[in-house]
Amino acid sequence: MTIMRGRLSAARYRHAIGVAKTAAALARRFGIDVERAWLAGLLHDYARELDGVDCLRLAGRYGLLETVAEPSVDLLHAPLGACLLRDELGVADPAVLQAVARHTTGDAGMTGLDKVVYLADAIEPGRAYPGVDAIRTLARRDLDRAVLAAMDATLELVRARGLKPDPRTSRARREIAAGIGERAE
Ligand SMILES: [Fe+2]
Ligand SMILES: [Fe+2]
Repeated sequence: MTIMRGRLSAARYRHAIGVAKTAAALARRFGIDVERAWLAGLLHDYARELDGVDCLRLAGRYGLLETVAEPSVDLLHAPLGACLLRDELGVADPAVLQAVARHTTGDAGMTGLDKVVYLADAIEPGRAYPGVDAIRTLARRDLDRAVLAAMDATLELVRARGLKPDPRTSRARREIAAGIGERAE
């Protein structure tokens, strides 16, 4: 926690604690490992406040630049955070690292842990955007439907900014929707 406090602004540190607590609560509710959820939630934005130059340099070193449509801190901080947590902090749990790496876009084959961290990032108590309360309500009873709703909110935001949705989000969304028998877009 001290390490995260040193790396993040006060506001983002509060966000990290909010995501840790929310991820742990979701994990408890849906039968997922609570300690891993708390840890991945706390650490998920480890690389979020690197400046753009450092982020691109480090992402280049880890071969991550080719993995995103447009290299930006927004998209790279999640997979880069996982690499840095492993190499700088010695976090060795692949499940935790994967949840961190996937927290911004999701991906095909999301585990329960990936889902609770993704969802917690979207609905922790500090988040305020249109529709967040509806997602919080869904998150009380249905993990997949809540993740879908959070992905839809993100996709809407991305489109409103005139950007192309990340293909991993579209893949994850289709897969989860198919799993619960909903029509995928
Ligand atoms: Fe993030
Ligand atoms: Fe976050």
